[in-house]
Amino acid sequence: MLLVLGRRVLLSFVKRVIPQDPVLLSNPILQDFRTIKFRVIHSSTVFASATRQNTDTMPERRPFVRLPTDVYPVNYGLCLKPDLIDFTFEGKLEAIVKVNLATNQIVMNCADIDIITASFVPEGGEEINATGFNYQNEDEKVTLSFPSALQKGSGTLKIDFVGELNDKMKGFYRSKYATPAGEIRYAAVTQFEATDARRAFPCWDEPAIKATFDISLIVPKDRVALSNMNVIDRKPHPEDDSLLEVKFATTPIMSTYLVAFVIGEYDFVEGQSSDGVTVRVYTPTGKAEQGKFALEVAVKTLPFYNEYFNVPYPLPKIDLIAIADFAAGAMENWGLVTYRETALLIDPKNSCSSSRQWVALVVGHELAHQWFGNLVTMEWWTHLWLNEGFASWIEYLCVDHCFPDYDIWTQFVSADYTRALDLDALDNSHPIEVNVGHPSEVDEIFDAISYSKGASVIRMLHNYIGDKDFRKGMHSYLLKFQHKNAATEDLWDCLEQASGKPIALVMSSWTKQMGFPIIVVDQEQQGDDRILKISQKKFCASGPHNGEDCPNWMVPISICTGEDPGCTKLKVLLDSPETTITINNVSPDQWVKINPGTVGFYRIQYSSGMLESLLPGIRDLTLLPVDRLGLQNDLFSLLHKQADMQEEKNRIERVLGAISAPDLIQKVLTFALSQCTHNTP
Ligand code: BES
Ligand code: ZN
Repeated sequence: MLLVLGRRVLLSFVKRVIPQDPVLLSNPILQDFRTIKFRVIHSSTVFASATRQNTDTMPERRPFVRLPTDVYPVNYGLCLKPDLIDFTFEGKLEAIVKVNLATNQIVMNCADIDIITASFVPEGGEEINATGFNYQNEDEKVTLSFPSALQKGSGTLKIDFVGELNDKMKGFYRSKYATPAGEIRYAAVTQFEATDARRAFPCWDEPAIKATFDISLIVPKDRVALSNMNVIDRKPHPEDDSLLEVKFATTPIMSTYLVAFVIGEYDFVEGQSSDGVTVRVYTPTGKAEQGKFALEVAVKTLPFYNEYFNVPYPLPKIDLIAIADFAAGAMENWGLVTYRETALLIDPKNSCSSSRQWVALVVGHELAHQWFGNLVTMEWWTHLWLNEGFASWIEYLCVDHCFPDYDIWTQFVSADYTRALDLDALDNSHPIEVNVGHPSEVDEIFDAISYSKGASVIRMLHNYIGDKDFRKGMHSYLLKFQHKNAATEDLWDCLEQASGKPIALVMSSWTKQMGFPIIVVDQEQQGDDRILKISQKKFCASGPHNGEDCPNWMVPISICTGEDPGCTKLKVLLDSPETTITINNVSPDQWVKINPGTVGFYRIQYSSGMLESLLPGIRDLTLLPVDRLGLQNDLFSLLHKQADMQEEKNRIERVLGAISAPDLIQKVLTFALSQCTHNTP
């Protein structure tokens, strides 16, 4: 019997490349050798649209049920006392909970934590001690059993527990650092996304179960203690005067994965954003200087988002801190954003502009999440792509606004956009939007498809809607769902209302099916009009798409002409396999180009005549750099498909040569033209 194998590819440490020279590095083959900075996205598994699973090699999808909703938290009173020598911590939770339905059990998330005692005090009633803690280790849950039913209404759940400050860079963990004198010490830090808050305290660790938090930390008095909110009280510990009890203000209602605390030795630089938020950048001791650039970025970035979303940042402070041991690149904890050192610190004496651009992008990304993610949170991890894709797009908008001389959109095209096209053309790609059941599947979807393709399709959407209506829609989305949860469709609804365009229909064609189209274009002059014949088919790196059902996309297409290369002359929505478009008033000597700005997520295959007509615009550089970059990348990928090794080497040399000497582009195009005439579609 023939078993159709589930195609499954393990991509370990997917990189998003931020190259130094965008044009030079648009060549995918060279990218790996020239990586200056990259963002680390966890090792990920990309699922293809497998027809049947190979049960020998593929792990079973674990059955998963969400937490019961009969008891849910309203406020977590949480006190933690880390021991930075023994690497353990003690915790005390006093959570105000609501019982929806009388029950004698409470089910919560809990992992690698030992519960010492647990009890429930109904409002105005007697304390009831739990009689059993049944750990379901596989499911990272604990069931607390009570001798009698907890009645509908409010109450306080009290739990005393202990845990380990682990060395796994998740949950509540230890991070090693050296003092300026070279002594090795440890800080205690957190990383909770996606599902590791449960390693620090028993909790309802799902993004839609929001509550407020009152956090206290008991720490050595010479250490810095930080959490999401500002400090409201600091007093000596009654039993040990070497310790301080630091109490933080109540948080807004929030998801557990955004809670954070840090205890260690740090210096900081401080500023104030024009909208009155105190911003601090915490650095290793003796390196405060290196926090100044990130501070400048954050102080500019907060008012930008404030104005763009027209919703104020709701906390009184935001801290950005460099953590010595950090698994991800950065994490958007509300009010206390954590970074790996290379994503936050800039040595003013020894840094290149690509390092500064990288720090600006990472700060822009995490601060965008303070609204998009933290204030409005995804209902479930299925919508994670939107969280990350959106932040990965708007980080560029923000950096472009704050540092216009960076020309950062060209970087976007050469890094995220072309990378997403390259990956998504493979047979083992996957749709951006994948249903997530068990949280262990969450890591699998943090890959370049959710980040870079996600960002690219949102960029295309923004261009299709136009900035004014896009902002209007974003504002109403954030206002409507603030302090709540939302699904992808909720954003499409708001953008649809604001723009009057069929957003859900357009976007689902890009998010629910993998891949993208190649747009085949030919032209004809009729009097003063230019007639374009446009068709779409799936672009596959492995050769023409041969599947029975040929997928179709709703493709926003923009067109510009040689008269004004920077300006879109016509916008159409291609909603069928092929169409004919008339552009009025285009003289026969004018070139016509599709996709100005390289914003549409598709490749273009021009007829030989159209391609040839673009040569003058390339030679005299009137075709903008980002358009030349897109054109070069499309041509490269089209040639690449038919190449043998020697031919390919020659082609790479030609393409690269063309970048430093524009006249060589002519040779590349001539070569491309000769290919087109042989392989006319
Ligand atoms: N929320 C993510 C970090 C994250 C991802 C934590 C997966 C846990 C699991 C954060 O906003 C992020 O996207 N960080 C990036 C850097 C960013 C600039 C793209 C990262 O860590 O690579
Ligand atoms: Zn992110």
